[in-house]
Amino acid sequence: MEKCAKDQKELKFYIHTFGCQMNESDSERISGILTASGAKISDSPEKSDLIIVNTCAVREKSEEKLYSYLGNLASLKKSKKVSIGVVGCVAQLYRSKLLEKKPFIDFILGPDNYHRLSHILRNNQGEKFISTGWSPELHEIPHELVFRKSNISAYLTIMEGCNNFCSYCIVPFTRGREKFRHKHNIIREVQSLARKGYKEIQLLGQNVNSYKDPETGEDFSALLKEINHVDGIEWIRFITSHPKNFSKDFASAMKEAKKVCHQLHLPIQSGSSSVLERMNRGYTREEYLEKITFILDLMPNMSLSTDIIVGFPGETEEEFQETLSLLKEVRYTNIFSFRYSPRPLTAASREKDTVPFEEKKRRLIELQGLQKKLQLELNKSQVGCVIKVLCSGKSKKDPHIYTGRNEGHQVVNFKSQKNVTDKFIDVRITACGPYSLIGEVSP
Ligand code: 5AD
Ligand code: SF4
Repeated sequence: MEKCAKDQKELKFYIHTFGCQMNESDSERISGILTASGAKISDSPEKSDLIIVNTCAVREKSEEKLYSYLGNLASLKKSKKVSIGVVGCVAQLYRSKLLEKKPFIDFILGPDNYHRLSHILRNNQGEKFISTGWSPELHEIPHELVFRKSNISAYLTIMEGCNNFCSYCIVPFTRGREKFRHKHNIIREVQSLARKGYKEIQLLGQNVNSYKDPETGEDFSALLKEINHVDGIEWIRFITSHPKNFSKDFASAMKEAKKVCHQLHLPIQSGSSSVLERMNRGYTREEYLEKITFILDLMPNMSLSTDIIVGFPGETEEEFQETLSLLKEVRYTNIFSFRYSPRPLTAASREKDTVPFEEKKRRLIELQGLQKKLQLELNKSQVGCVIKVLCSGKSKKDPHIYTGRNEGHQVVNFKSQKNVTDKFIDVRITACGPYSLIGEVSP
């Protein structure tokens, strides 16, 4: 590692984050650790002494984007003195091999090793540093240290890792087995966030439904119930739920806890039971649909979203058509859809990747085209309604246009004469597109 000649008080750092909300949240924790040791956040890599790249390994494309970004950093390092750290899932996956391939990298940290950052800053003598071990418990970084980007909505990791081993998924290899934060620490953090004025809590974990307090064994329903009692918090969300662990009892607990938004991300991955079996998902199409039925029976205004993979090994046209018919049946508010890519160490990567790239592309376009049509229909049904929106800020293009999310987590762009950033506001929906609602502040 480049020896940090500067005193840590002058050290400027920049974090580039790839991937999911958990990575965003981890980057906020990393920022907190660095700022607590005196370093300052910078708004560009060019102005920084330390650049940290927080990486995502879930799909081939995310890894390709990383290598292109690292290429830019390698050029930057030729023109100025800078330390480069690669952290997160790709760091965990390739460890020292990444250093061999990219010798300009100064340190590598896996997701379980961020608490070692201050040690790197303090004790570094210029040598390279790799830390990718696992610890049996989730590291509690003191919550006062987390440096959150938003003043109103907070990400909060409650569990990490996965025991499911879906056949396409690299996560169990990069995030390890399931580990849970202590409930009393989570509650303390939520209370502290409420005191600071946060209104929305987004609980994070690969499988939030399998949450168990390490001390008492209390489950996710109990945790939601307790967070629901924290004064000041108005909206509670969580991602990601596994359909296999989503029970009727949990749906009732969700309904009972009044601050829990009627929004649910429930990844199906495929509408075909035979593909689901090959994916090792642990449920059939019919079982998934039964769960959707009892959820909608209890909470008819539930906004549903999902993840879909097209072109999984052996996926036939008929199996793909089953995914299209499932979209029509469920009518999701939003979907995240991906072309299958083989990932190292996974069971599916040992199967032949039978669906050609062009065919995967065609299936993805068809799927997204259908969903766009369905979403537009759903969004049109909201025109004329007045809905509650949590405003996250101004539009960059027009100072009178603000943006935010409704309870269903849909993007709402709206006109307001007053600055309503970080506030809840009632918005009358006047128009829509497939991906957003458009409106004006309701008098
Ligand atoms: N190929 C394509 N998509 C994948 N996902 C996970 N692994 C792969 C893969 N190998 C998708 C799944 C998951 C989301 C986070 O990424 O849909 O839910
Ligand atoms: Fe990956 Fe499946 Fe675990 Fe989700 S449940 S992180 S898709 S292995």
